[in-house]
Amino acid sequence: MDIREAISLRHSVRKYRDQPIEGKTLELLEAYIADVSRESGLHLQLVRNEPRAFKSGIIKYGGFSNANNYIAMIGPKGDALRETCGYYGEKIVLYAQTIGLNTCWVGFRVGYVPDVYELARDEELALVIAIGYGENSGRQHRSKRPEKVSNLSETSPEWFRKGVEAALLAPTAINQQHFYFTHEGGNEVSVKKTYGPFSDVDLGIVRLHFELGAGKENFVWKEK
Ligand SMILES: Cc1cc2nc3c(=O)[nH]c(=O)nc-3n(C[C@H](O)[C@H](O)[C@H](O)COP(=O)(O)O)c2cc1C
Repeated sequence: MDIREAISLRHSVRKYRDQPIEGKTLELLEAYIADVSRESGLHLQLVRNEPRAFKSGIIKYGGFSNANNYIAMIGPKGDALRETCGYYGEKIVLYAQTIGLNTCWVGFRVGYVPDVYELARDEELALVIAIGYGENSGRQHRSKRPEKVSNLSETSPEWFRKGVEAALLAPTAINQQHFYFTHEGGNEVSVKKTYGPFSDVDLGIVRLHFELGAGKENFVWKEK
């Protein structure tokens, strides 16, 4: 399975088995996180066997259990941080699925646990991704129709339809799906977010899904 195939299998999982990530799976995951960190300029860190963050959260929803491992999405402070975290974090989420792990993005604050990750003065912890062996594999979220989140029509190219469909399978905060893709004509596509919590992160996530669904070779992003 590659990360493109993982798109339709991935669902958020909040209840985990009490089973540590170790051995070959750990090696693969750490190597992938290191690659993505290098590629993105983020300072992503896997925190393992650390149950306190999810026990002392300030705001909690969704009922997590045994969420003892997470990826701290850390990077340079600035306007681009959240969208960058979305794009590259989702790469890790989809990769995790291919090696038998489940995940859940967590934007609402988890408890601050000192000394488990490195945070430089010019860096910020944007959010975390819980990761581990799920008690179940989650379930398909309800989705908006493609026409609600894009200008898809009967005359749109096939790659545009596939891109929008892949974006609709993406995780978004509170399943808000606050994004809109426009086929600008030719091979140009633009995407914008509409208002909602964490919609910057969502935008990065859906950009990745669109690229995987449409095929990067078929289009170029038009920035607005
Ligand atoms: C940026 C972001 C933040 C999220 N924050 C939380 C959270 O704090 N708690 C939680 O239980 N789920 C959180 N989620 C998971 C969403 O609720 C979930 O992705 C959405 O309901 C769609 O379901 P699916 O991921 O199973 O497709 C978050 C997702 C995203 C993308």
